[in-house]
Formats: sequence, structure tokens, C-alpha cells
Amino acid sequence: MIVELRSDTFTKPSPGMLAAMAAAETGDDVFGEDPSINKLENMTAELFGMQAALYCPTGTMSNQVAIKVHTQPGDEVICERSAHVFLYEGGGIAFNSGAQVRLLEGDRGRINASQVAEAINNRNDVHKANSSLVCLENTCNRGGGSCYDLNEIAAIREVCDTNDLKLHLDGARLFNALVATGQKATDYGKLFHSISLCLNKGMGCPMGSMLVGSKEFIRKARRVRKVLGGGMRQAGYMAACGIYAIENNIDRLATDHAHAKRIAESLDGASYVSKVHPVDTNIIVFNVTPGIPAETVAKRFEDVNIRVMAIAPTQIRMVTHLDVSSEMVDYVVNFIGNNKGEF
Ligand SMILES: Cc1ncc(COP(=O)(O)O)c(C=O)c1O
Repeated sequence: MIVELRSDTFTKPSPGMLAAMAAAETGDDVFGEDPSINKLENMTAELFGMQAALYCPTGTMSNQVAIKVHTQPGDEVICERSAHVFLYEGGGIAFNSGAQVRLLEGDRGRINASQVAEAINNRNDVHKANSSLVCLENTCNRGGGSCYDLNEIAAIREVCDTNDLKLHLDGARLFNALVATGQKATDYGKLFHSISLCLNKGMGCPMGSMLVGSKEFIRKARRVRKVLGGGMRQAGYMAACGIYAIENNIDRLATDHAHAKRIAESLDGASYVSKVHPVDTNIIVFNVTPGIPAETVAKRFEDVNIRVMAIAPTQIRMVTHLDVSSEMVDYVVNFIGNNKGEF
């Protein structure tokens, strides 16, 4: 048995998902004629109470398409310093949109309205870049799966409206946040100009990300997706697994969250752990005891077929997902429990 805890991107399509893919009706989506993609786009837009949606191959593409639509070259995008759009999208904000970033120091990846207000440049000052977009992330990946409070997002939106900025959400793991907090998808639809959602993580699909927004926004986004090479033919086979995931794999995320809490609790008191960060969803982050390299701890887990990731020289991350069963969690918890001393 191998327990894959490095990321929730390691999931394999389940038999039910594969059957849904095999049975999919497809067409040419560049012509707007793929019934499965059209259905997935419509059901996602409806779920969030937004006008329209666009199927993209990856979360990176849906974020980058959104940023391109919302900005002009030379603009400034405000985000947290560990945001995926800044750290892990290959410099895409500069590459694709010719925009620069203003980085804020958040609380486990979350920024607040007064920080945003302070970071907005004066539009009448020609020295300054034009602040045009705020990007939030929920859950925050590098924040250890932390979730935003809706009131904070509403306050940020108010600052955006007052200053004529757009608000985009990198919601790669938004379904985790919705399940963990009980917040409604439609609340998010009201607060953001655009939202990207990943199907290829805890939702269990091999690929796919949805971008949702207004009709006009999605019309522009469709053009940018094509320019980036994301216009797909017969991709309804892949959209079918997205439909399957939305219908079957959202509520079960609560199990992943419970598994993550169990693993985090078992780490308490282990000699190689100096701090376990709060666990709000499916991500566990812990600091290793000074003097022990995180890589050494990761190797010790790897030796017993538990795959974890050293995300910094002093930090380990574990992520639960639908291919981590409760038996696997028992195995991990027992291993941790039986090896708390000398490592
Ligand atoms: C928060 C966040 N946003 C966006 C992405 C990008 O998704 P993709 O790997 O599909 O490009 C990821 C991927 O891990 C992520 O964690």
C-alpha cells in the first residue's frame, strides 16, 4: 500500500467517473458544439449564480485568462505573497498580461480589506502603476488550506468597487472551503467578478478547471483561452468527469477534512515536529524540529510508503483526498503514533 499525501492532484478517476467519460456525448467546443462541455459550463454558472462559465484545461490557465481579461499591460495586480498566481504560475502575470504584482503579507495566505485599500495606487499619480485587480485564493494553498470569512471578502469587494478594481478568486479548492465552512456557492458568485475552480484536485478529475463570471467577461475569456491554445475539440470526454465530480464528489470532501484532522492530531508530541499548523480543510502543514531537515523526515515517511512533501527546508505538507481511504489514514496515524521518539 502506498499512501499518497503529497498533493490532492494525484487522484485517479474512479470507475464511476470513467464510465461517465466513456458514455459522454462530444462535439467541437471551438464551434460551441460539445454538449458535455456546454452542460458543464451551464451547471457551474448556475451553481454559483453567475451568468456564464468556461471550461479550461488547468487552473493555471483559468487564472491567467481571468487576469488577462481584467488587466491592461502595465497594471498592478494585488495579491498575497504566497498566492499561486504569483508564486507558481511561471511568471504568467508578467508573461501573459504584462502586469506587475503588489504583494501583501497575509494571515495564512488571507489578506484583509484595509491592506488592500492601502495598496491601491493613486490613479492620478503618473509615477504609479494602475491598480486594476485584486486576486484572492480560497482555500489558501500555502496557508495550509485556510478559509476566508465571507464578511472579509465583502469588505474587500467594497474597497474594489470604491476604487474601480476587479476582484478575482483563485478557487482551486473553493469546494473544500464551501464544505468546511457551510458557505454558499452563490455568495461567492455575488462577491467576485470572476472565479476559477479546479476539478483536477480534490474533485478527482484527471484535468479541468472552470472559470465563471458575467456573460461579457466569459466572452472575452473564451477568446483569450483560444489565443493561449486552450480551444479544445471533443473534450466532452473530459468535461463528463467534471459533471460527474460536481454531482458526486463535493459533499465527500468532508471525509478528507476529517482525515486531515486525524493525521494532524496524531502528530502532536512527535519528536520531529515543532508545530502543527491549524487544519481547516484537507491540508496539513507542520514545522520540523530545528536541526532536522524536512527532507530527512519526508524520507523516513517514504521508507514506509507514506509520501509527504517537504515544501520548505523546515516544513512538511500532507494533503488528503479521495484516493486516501480511512484504512490508509489508520496506517499513517499508527506509524506516527508508534514512532514519536527518536527519528
Ligand atoms: C491554489 C491553486 N491555484 C491554482 C492551481 C493551478 O492548477 P493547475 O495545476 O490545474 O494549473 C493550483 C495547483 O495546485 C493551486 O493549488
